[in-house]
Amino acid sequence: MVNAPRFIESAIREIREEVGNERVVIALSGGVDSSVCAELARRAVGGQLVAIYVDTGLMRKGETERIAHLFGDIQLQVIQAGEEFLAALRGISDPEQKRKVIGERFIRVFEREARKTGATCLLQGTIYPDRIESEGGIKSHHNVGGMPAKMAFSKVIEPIRDLYKDEVRVVAGELSLPPEIQHRMPFPGPGLAVRVIGEVTPEKVIVAREANWIVEDEIVEKYRPWQCFAALLGLGTGVKGDNRVHGWVVAVRAVNSRDGMTADPIRLPYEVLDTIASRITAEIPSVARVVYDITPKPPATIEYE
Ligand code: XMP
Repeated sequence: MVNAPRFIESAIREIREEVGNERVVIALSGGVDSSVCAELARRAVGGQLVAIYVDTGLMRKGETERIAHLFGDIQLQVIQAGEEFLAALRGISDPEQKRKVIGERFIRVFEREARKTGATCLLQGTIYPDRIESEGGIKSHHNVGGMPAKMAFSKVIEPIRDLYKDEVRVVAGELSLPPEIQHRMPFPGPGLAVRVIGEVTPEKVIVAREANWIVEDEIVEKYRPWQCFAALLGLGTGVKGDNRVHGWVVAVRAVNSRDGMTADPIRLPYEVLDTIASRITAEIPSVARVVYDITPKPPATIEYE
């Protein structure tokens, strides 16, 4: 386990050395990884920091407003890039390709914002599992293997690249970040795009967003899972009223884990699953079925793509 005070001291020193007199863009998503990096950078190079939050259009309900509110005091620039991301994803159904397109879009948005402010370095909250899974060919995390080969930044700084998620949370505590951030469920950078199988369309994103909202509403407070969410698997038949319909099949996932490298599905009470299925099919009319995923990681992954 990481020695948090010592880690913080050396990370601040490293950021100072790497950034020098330049300006640095931090990609802040509001998750614990990027929040820890932002706080380290604020302590290291304060005024040289440009904090950016990109609304990719693939975020959960209320996420952008929540983050703008939470980070109000560090002059977070909120960039609305939903149309740009959705346009780039049009027609793409291969999971790796989707991640690459998203990784590239993120960088292009950061580059544009960096040009406006004169920043030359990029600071990212990449953690150890992101790197091993990308390097091991399991999948390209959007911020590692999904990044374009050519970019306008002279340096990419990744202060928490050797930490596991549980260690990042310990560092967050030592930095006195609010408990809401410290214990926040992970949400992947590619957002709802990895929670819809195949091509990302505006309709699928809306359904996934609503379903994720319901799942979190029913599970997070009561069961405090490591992660829970809903994913859109595809179309299946159902009956609504007197009609046979072809509607979305939604998978519900709730897992416990230490570091995201392995995970176990939570044995949710049947009544909770029943409530979730009833709410999703009633509140989202285009959903025909709801299933609960009982596969551990491995052999499954936590996300669907
Ligand atoms: P998997 O699906 O690989 O996920 O079992 C492990 C953890 O990583 C998150 N995840 C990502 N996070 N960019 C991220 O920032 C990504 O491309 C990405 N893919 C997966 C996932 O939500 C889980 O917590």
